[in-house]
Amino acid sequence: MTLLHVFLGLLLSLHAAASRRGAAAAMDTVSAGNGLAGRDRLVSNNTKFALGFFKMDSKSSHTYLGIWFNKVPKIMPVWSANGESPVIDPISPELAIAGDGNLAILNQATKKVIWSTHANVTTNDTKAVLMNNGNFVLHSSSNSSMVFWQSFDYPTDTLLAGAKIGWDKTTGLNRRLVSRKNLIDQAPGLYTLEMGQNRLGHLLWNSTLEFWTSGAWNGRYFNLAPEMIGALTPNFTFINTENESTFMYTLRDDTAIVQCAIDVYGQGLVGAWLEPIHNWLINYRQPIFQCDVFATCGPFTICRENADPLCSCMKGFSLGSPKDWDLGDRSHGCRRNTPLGCENEGNKPGLAAKFYPVQGSMRLPHEGAKVPATTSGDDCQRICLGNCSCTAYSYGKGGCSIWHGKLYNVKQQSDASSAANGDTLYIRLAAAELPESVVSKKQSGINLVSVAVGASAAALVLVILGLVIWSKKGKWFTSTPVNGVGIISFRYADLQRATNNFTERLGGGSFGSVFKGYLSDSVTLAVKRLEGAHQGDKQFRAEVSSVGIIQHINLVKLIGFCCKGDERLLVYEFMPNQSLDVHLFKANGTVLDWSLRYQIAIGVARGLAYLHTGCRDCIIHCDIKPENILLDTSFVAKIADFGMAKVLGREFSQALTTTRGTIGYLAPEWISGSAVTSKVDVYSYGMVLFEIISGRRNSSQVEDGDYSAFFPLQVARKLLSGEIGSLVDPNLQGDVNLEEVVRVCKVACWCIQDDEFDRPTMAEVVQFLEGVIEVDMPRVPRLLNAITAGVGSPTSDT
Ligand SMILES: *[C@@H]1O[C@H](CO)[C@@H](O)[C@H](O)[C@H]1NC(C)=O
Ligand SMILES: *[C@@H]1O[C@H](CO)[C@@H](O)[C@H](O)[C@H]1NC(C)=O
Ligand SMILES: *[C@@H]1O[C@H](CO)[C@@H](O)[C@H](O)[C@H]1NC(C)=O
Ligand SMILES: *[C@@H]1O[C@H](CO)[C@@H](O)[C@H](O)[C@H]1NC(C)=O
Ligand SMILES: *[C@@H]1O[C@H](CO)[C@@H](O)[C@H](O)[C@H]1NC(C)=O
Ligand SMILES: *[C@@H]1O[C@H](CO)[C@@H](O)[C@H](O)[C@H]1NC(C)=O
Ligand SMILES: *[C@@H]1O[C@H](CO)[C@@H](O)[C@H](O)[C@H]1NC(C)=O
Ligand SMILES: *[C@@H]1O[C@H](CO)[C@@H](O)[C@H](O)[C@H]1NC(C)=O
Repeated sequence: MTLLHVFLGLLLSLHAAASRRGAAAAMDTVSAGNGLAGRDRLVSNNTKFALGFFKMDSKSSHTYLGIWFNKVPKIMPVWSANGESPVIDPISPELAIAGDGNLAILNQATKKVIWSTHANVTTNDTKAVLMNNGNFVLHSSSNSSMVFWQSFDYPTDTLLAGAKIGWDKTTGLNRRLVSRKNLIDQAPGLYTLEMGQNRLGHLLWNSTLEFWTSGAWNGRYFNLAPEMIGALTPNFTFINTENESTFMYTLRDDTAIVQCAIDVYGQGLVGAWLEPIHNWLINYRQPIFQCDVFATCGPFTICRENADPLCSCMKGFSLGSPKDWDLGDRSHGCRRNTPLGCENEGNKPGLAAKFYPVQGSMRLPHEGAKVPATTSGDDCQRICLGNCSCTAYSYGKGGCSIWHGKLYNVKQQSDASSAANGDTLYIRLAAAELPESVVSKKQSGINLVSVAVGASAAALVLVILGLVIWSKKGKWFTSTPVNGVGIISFRYADLQRATNNFTERLGGGSFGSVFKGYLSDSVTLAVKRLEGAHQGDKQFRAEVSSVGIIQHINLVKLIGFCCKGDERLLVYEFMPNQSLDVHLFKANGTVLDWSLRYQIAIGVARGLAYLHTGCRDCIIHCDIKPENILLDTSFVAKIADFGMAKVLGREFSQALTTTRGTIGYLAPEWISGSAVTSKVDVYSYGMVLFEIISGRRNSSQVEDGDYSAFFPLQVARKLLSGEIGSLVDPNLQGDVNLEEVVRVCKVACWCIQDDEFDRPTMAEVVQFLEGVIEVDMPRVPRLLNAITAGVGSPTSDT
């Protein structure tokens, strides 16, 4: 069953809901004698939230009581009452005030209690109201200040605006977010987000193992989550008094549909519902890398960031529970195909077992036991063989480590960082799993048994948080787009006026033209008018959905848009210093000094790292080139032009056939038509780095099919001989930081490796350039080698 079916089922079951409640009952209240059954629902007075019984899938036999955003068609619960005790078909549930004044879910036929608030109610004259902020409150009918129970005190996986997580020190109540078991089952899962006694936010696995912490509160945000203020417009507050230690946020616009949640795979998310594209957008995630969520793929798996699927079983293992896996519950991970068999061999342990080296550099499994005084890999292996519960060993710089039982948290690292030259992990398999030839031959690549999960990223959209603010009457000229929040829906006439009826053309391309515009308060705009109704609409959606609500200093800011008839306009902040190509390649540009170039390189890397991992399901820009790197007044780099951007898809070969492919920057896997990942941007970025160093187009140095002067090739070779200085842009007149030049050259060569797995991630590139991690000497990419040998045809600009 696909996720789509789940959504459809959900939609059907919820949309069919028509109220059968008495007309006299307030739409937001349950009171004695006025309960809720079947498809009835409560709607908060401001119509933002709805409460009722729902199924996550029409075929599911489980019914829950929950709350969801009333206006979002793809409904997902923000709270559920009875996740652990669902109402099972064919029982029909009823929500009522029980005789003792508590709120309860009853079996409608037998009146047996299925779930109750179990609060200490001092009167049986109570009622429950769905408040405008989504809180469901049980209070005295005569005195609404006498609150006996509220849903905000028992959150599930979502933190709504106005609710608190953390400690009530007077009662000892600890409110925390708990992931759901899977995409359908509302029972609690393994991941929790909570405030520790130490006043830090923590993400935990199985309530004990911490895999992410927020850092301390600095008054505005948690130190390790600075995106909170950058990307997110709600107002966060941390409260620490003698009575409570809590965290909450408020919205500046109460109509905004914002959610802060923890997803079934263990990542904390912030996202928004964006009405024009009718979809949820994830603003950012923590931890940034999915593979850094502890055991996100379950036991005996390997997590590979940017791979599709993300999780693979280790060699000799297959999915423990494909059904749960498909529903997003990977806690069963993978299971051994062939039992080790040593359990029954008494004093001959290990005869039936062999070891399989996991190729590639790996983050070793959680909790290895160091074995001191081992002198060789064979020694280490023997120790592991000697104990039937030993499942893996590793021997290397760190000595001998062995693992017992389940192997958790193995992740493939990229090759470019020196930390990645880690120790090989040897996993223990039954001999039958490994034909002799396999063991003796050197493996190439990573031998993983791929599992079919795919598109699970789409499932992540289930849990989100965000915010949208609309200028209701298109009064954009009174709004303040600079440092403002949200994006503005402009009226066409206003943009016509701002651009003086589209007269001052800044530039253009096959997509259409860009015009300069002015706001009354002297703010300057760049208005992009997309041409070609269909293609224009596609680009429009791509841009709005990718840059719409993301905010990063190194991404050009989308201020707003306009959608009228066939017209599609995008409004950006204006960049006075044009694009990078002007300064690198054109006579009328300024010569950028080296430190500026270095800052631009880091800036672009940061922007891309944010796109790939920081903000949502991985946005691939797909068209990184100097023309799309704009420079603001202080020459800060801003990535622009998201018309080709994709949220991890396979439409790329089509994209290639359109007029906008920029060949000199395209990764080989793109040209060969295979599926592409964010590593295509890494490749293009590498090509741009070469141009930043040389001040010339890479392609301009290829003459009459003679590629010996191809700049990337020269760099790759000269890195080895250490004569990089001579390659730097002569306009700089040798005024460069050679150490930085070498670093940029190495990074550039790593970025253009033929195999995408050899290329670093953009987050790693940032760390290399910041000098946080040393960069190893890169290999000369095969493709470039082929050029020297006179075979193969390298890419060139058209
Ligand atoms: C519900 O909203 C209306 C306006 O939309 C307001 O007049 C009324 O007082 C509200 N009722 C409550 C109980 O807040
Ligand atoms: C509330 O309690 C009183 C006495 O304890 C009882 O007479 C009455 O019927 C109860 N009301 C309801 C709605 O159960
Ligand atoms: C309810 O009251 C009883 C007795 O007064 C007390 O033991 C219990 O802890 C209270 N429960 C809650 C949830 O406050
Ligand atoms: C309502 O309840 C609150 C809290 O228990 C109390 O302080 C207040 O006096 C009550 N008001 C009335 C009118 O009974
Ligand atoms: C989680 O922890 C409990 C003990 O606190 C343990 O019994 C259980 O096996 C753990 N779950 C997993 C999946 O390891
Ligand atoms: C943020 O929220 C806190 C607590 O609700 C409030 O005191 C503060 O004034 C708010 N700040 C802004 C800028 O809205
Ligand atoms: C904490 O609670 C006590 C008792 O309810 C109250 O007197 C005090 O003012 C509270 N302190 C703060 C800082 O709210
Ligand atoms: C095997 O290792 C486990 C875990 O360290 C240990 O509890 C057990 O005693 C060992 N068995 C033998 C036979 O050494």
